[in-house]
Amino acid sequence: MSHKIAVFASGNGTNFQAIDEAVGCGEIDATIALMVCDQPGAAVIGRAEKAGVKTLVVARKDFPSKRAFEEKIAAALKACGVDYIFLAGYMRLIGKTLLNAYPHRIVNIHPALLPSFTGLDAIGQAFRKGVKVTGVTIHYVDEGMDTGPIIAQAAVPVKDGDTIETLESRIHEMEHQLYPKTIAKLLAE
Ligand code: GAR
Repeated sequence: MSHKIAVFASGNGTNFQAIDEAVGCGEIDATIALMVCDQPGAAVIGRAEKAGVKTLVVARKDFPSKRAFEEKIAAALKACGVDYIFLAGYMRLIGKTLLNAYPHRIVNIHPALLPSFTGLDAIGQAFRKGVKVTGVTIHYVDEGMDTGPIIAQAAVPVKDGDTIETLESRIHEMEHQLYPKTIAKLLAE
């Protein structure tokens, strides 16, 4: 059965684009039924529109509670027949409403080797710590921040002379390979 997936993003959307391209070329056996963005004005919205992907833009401040915010998203997901959610730079903790609606069906990508460097600015945290190896983690989402069971990891060495920018660009390159590959495998199981 071909899956209907949703991608959640808050920012630039390069991972959304990598997933969309992998869907387009048949590497991922799925359609992106919905792109959910919590930041009106984010670049990912233009990418989704250009790709012809249906988009839901919802700002948390427009809802009285996290629960109401997530109920709106969950209703849109169900209406589109979504069966898996992939977070791609979605900078907000997933709450009980979505976790209960999609148990064991929400996956996140994080730009560090978890459990190290959770939360915001993981690449900067690793760089400033002076680690020699960092990387990318793909994991199931639970109620914690970057704490769910790990699905896949890839290491990225920190090279002499790296700046945050050069390191960041190699991490993103790795993300754009690892996320589509991992999604394809997960959906084929
Ligand atoms: C990616 O590096 C992703 O791993 C990170 O946000 C970036 C989004 O880039 N996510 C987190 O830090 C989640 N804790 P993109 O918008 O270009 O895909």
